[in-house]
Amino acid sequence: MAEVIIVSNEDEAGRIYADCAAQLIAAKPNCILGLATGSSPLAAYKALAAKVEADHIDVSQVRGFALDEYAGLDPKHPQSYRSTIDRTVVEPLGLNPELVHVPNGNLDTIATAGREYDAAIEAAGGVDMQILGIGTDGHIGFNEPGSSLASGTRIKTLTEQTRVDNARFFDNDINQVPTHCITQGIGTILKARQLVLLAFGAGKAEAVAATVEGGISSFCPASALQLHPHATVIVDEAAAARLQNRDYYKWAYDNKPAWQGI
Ligand code: GLP
Repeated sequence: MAEVIIVSNEDEAGRIYADCAAQLIAAKPNCILGLATGSSPLAAYKALAAKVEADHIDVSQVRGFALDEYAGLDPKHPQSYRSTIDRTVVEPLGLNPELVHVPNGNLDTIATAGREYDAAIEAAGGVDMQILGIGTDGHIGFNEPGSSLASGTRIKTLTEQTRVDNARFFDNDINQVPTHCITQGIGTILKARQLVLLAFGAGKAEAVAATVEGGISSFCPASALQLHPHATVIVDEAAAARLQNRDYYKWAYDNKPAWQGI
């Protein structure tokens, strides 16, 4: 099962991610970070950026692959995931933008863009550590409920719920939220060597419980994490509220021997 870490706030979660990423970069300077958008990973990126600066970590060779992108949205649009990843990850961490990839949502080439993206990840040697948020409906990347657990990167239609959730980035106007996207598939995500899922707030409690303790089902795409040998789920108390084994997760983490590793 995934390791579940219950933290008191997003900053604590961010520090755990940052320590883990820093260890990875030290061991493998050209490692591949799997990147995600959304508000959940922001504290993690902030903590890593602070650590990179404080510890003078050389990130010049660090590579990145993002999970997803809106279809047909100009990459220069401030809410495109290309712009978002540049603004929230590439710039604060000081990564080389040429080494950080985002799926190509250009409609002229989108039919083949998914296969090419998966091939590029594979050719680069695979993602070392993938950070994930989770949608209120249990989606990861933009794999909406019903997505094949074996899927590769491809076009998806967004659900109305996701478009409502994301309207806050588009002047609170759902009509401005694109209807389609290109997203790494669940099969693609599962190939990463480590998964770190972050979720905060009561709005995520149901999705987190279904992910960690529910049955594995394409209806809760994040439940595919149960199939992964090295998955870590970091949640605050509110997001953990519906977990049945909450006390066990807390005890296991509080009493974790140093030799067990992250
Ligand atoms: C979007 C992204 C997901 C993200 C989700 C949740 O749909 N495609 O990768 O996990 O939003 O976002 P937030 O972390 O802001 O709740």
